[in-house]
Amino acid sequence: MRTLISGGTVVGPTGTLAAEVLVEDERIVAIAAPGTQLATAFAEGGRVIDASGRLVVPGGIDAHTHMELPFGGTFASDTFETGTRAAAWGGTTTIVDFAVQRKGEALRPGLEAALAKAEGNCAIDYGFHMIVSDVNEQSCKEMDVLVDEGVTSFKLFMAYPGVFYSTDGEILRAMQEARTSGATVMMHAENGTAIDVLVSQALSRGETAPRFHGLTRPDRLEAEATSRAIALAKVTGAPLYIVHLSTTGALEAVAQARSEGQNAFAETCPQYLFLSADDLAREGFEGAKYVCSPPLRDREHQANLWRGLRTDDLSVVSTDHCPFCFKEQKELGAEDFSKIPNGLPGVEHRIDLTYQGVVAGEITLARWVEVNATTPARMFGLYPKKGVLAPGSDADIVIYDPAATQTISAATHHMNVDYSAYEGTKVTGRVDTVLSRGKVVIEAGRYVGDKGHGRYLPRKTNEYLV
Ligand code: URP
Ligand code: ZN
Ligand code: ZN
Repeated sequence: MRTLISGGTVVGPTGTLAAEVLVEDERIVAIAAPGTQLATAFAEGGRVIDASGRLVVPGGIDAHTHMELPFGGTFASDTFETGTRAAAWGGTTTIVDFAVQRKGEALRPGLEAALAKAEGNCAIDYGFHMIVSDVNEQSCKEMDVLVDEGVTSFKLFMAYPGVFYSTDGEILRAMQEARTSGATVMMHAENGTAIDVLVSQALSRGETAPRFHGLTRPDRLEAEATSRAIALAKVTGAPLYIVHLSTTGALEAVAQARSEGQNAFAETCPQYLFLSADDLAREGFEGAKYVCSPPLRDREHQANLWRGLRTDDLSVVSTDHCPFCFKEQKELGAEDFSKIPNGLPGVEHRIDLTYQGVVAGEITLARWVEVNATTPARMFGLYPKKGVLAPGSDADIVIYDPAATQTISAATHHMNVDYSAYEGTKVTGRVDTVLSRGKVVIEAGRYVGDKGHGRYLPRKTNEYLV
């Protein structure tokens, strides 16, 4: 099957060009100058998609999602089926989700459980990082085996004592192992034991409303944990990737480490660029819709996060998609903010929301593609199969209408969750057509993909390591 994507502006991490994209079966076979005989001949007998007036960009890679994550006595409400379909609607053609090691168990059963949940259900391609919640000699050995099998990144938590939390000693030990195997350590950097004290003090004062979730997780405790993670990574030589970075202080710590040549990287998420502590403080229990960790911060951090995206101290935008319905799930914390399951829906809106940064002049078009697709591909061992429009790459392609406008709403989104964190937000730009490995999955406002089309992606190690 041949497809010619014609008349569009192709955007890559190095800039834009008017070009035709030639696709054969699942792959891109050429990028050709418009009107060349090659493109015209190629179109004969094939399908032509007219991309005039639109941008042609690599499918997005969301390197941080949690479909069906067990958390706070419930499960994230998107399954691999519903969540990957919503991702496709939003122009994301690959997710890297998290397999979870349960305390007292080995890594392997956690990975197998995640693979079993995803297999046959995904609309787009998917890989897994591994959450290590029980660091011991056995799990360290298993980390090495998993790297060889294509699970090349491991998330550790300085937060959530008693659940996913690891001590500094355990983190150091896991980092030693990562240093040897070339794996990247992903870190949830918040000082969880200090936060737990603040949480129980707040509750004992009767401070139970959602806004106290933010007030008991001060930004200094993210900056402190980030610095500590960087120090442990420096001592061990392990590559470090700070997930869901939300504050100026944490960003400064990452920027400093990078300026000293350390293999330290970070991502931020749309919620930290667009939402704030004011949302968490909404009337009544509304703020529960905005409970995630790290919490939403004061607006003053946002300009610094955009600057970090420009300077590459923030290399990636991921969503940390972890939806819980307001009814029955967020409501678990109606009497106690610490029982509100942590997480926000977002997998469908990352490309559109970050495009507002292009509209506002915060980032260039090329940088938009880089943080959403090219860098996550290189960071997590998927490049050049994913993350770029180039001969030989998978034909994961988004045709994006930069002039369309839309209003984000739970009434029209496709995520399996009963509210939108961005309800009523008007945005410029809209996904028009999406191809996943050459197959059209979104077309003319319709989902035309298949559950089960998505394939598992074993991954190489981080390309940025020096
Ligand atoms: O609130 C969040 N971020 N929930 C998902 C789990 C995590 O820490 O990434
Ligand atoms: Zn986290
Ligand atoms: Zn997460």
